Amino acid sequence: LLPGLLRDKHVLVTAGPTYEAIDAIRGITNLSSGRMGYAVTRAALEAGAKVTLISGPTCLSPPASAKLISVVSARDMFNAVKKEILDTDIFISVAAVADYRVVKEREQKIKKTNENLMLELTPNPDILMYVANLPAAPFCVGFAAETEDLEKNAEIKRHKKKLPLLVANLAQRAIGSDESALILFDDEGKYYLSQAPKADQARHLIRHIAQLYEKQKSK
Ligand code: C5P
Repeated sequence: LLPGLLRDKHVLVTAGPTYEAIDAIRGITNLSSGRMGYAVTRAALEAGAKVTLISGPTCLSPPASAKLISVVSARDMFNAVKKEILDTDIFISVAAVADYRVVKEREQKIKKTNENLMLELTPNPDILMYVANLPAAPFCVGFAAETEDLEKNAEIKRHKKKLPLLVANLAQRAIGSDESALILFDDEGKYYLSQAPKADQARHLIRHIAQLYEKQKSK
């Protein structure tokens, strides 16, 4: 169904969680499996795009014809995105980037005591916000996983990050699952994609992105 829709377009996808080390063996991460980002990568390849996949730690096997860049932390992901972005037509930010990292990563394992342990956290850079605000920004697509007030929070996020398209899902049903229900928000309104396998959702999404991208270019 998709061949040719994104022929020879350069698509950059981020996927999976990030892992922010606390000490030599412990860290902060989240329950993202990477499945949605990998499905989006496959659908973009099917549509004829050249795809670079920047992935946090996952258990998935990467699509063979994508260029894979494996990263661990949000800052690694940010550096990789900055390197790849110049050449990108469409940036699809599916990764569940950790919002915070510890101020001081310890080299050695922290020893257990009977006292409370305080960890000071500092915000990570917002990769998508940085890309969407570049003077020559590519077409940017964001994802929002929310556990409540999904539609309201999604619209706020889309405007804050200045995105032509934002994909919202209810986190407790999508994260780690093979299926999701999505809502696409763009300048013209919202579209509901009912519960379905992520591979199908990714194909719908790529079709929608290709339409918006062409429309924006012909303006
Ligand atoms: O603000 P929030 O994390 O909910 O926004 C989600 C969107 O922003 C996703 O597309 C995610 O990939 C991106 N993001 C990012 N860098 C961050 C946090 C989120 O690129 N530090």
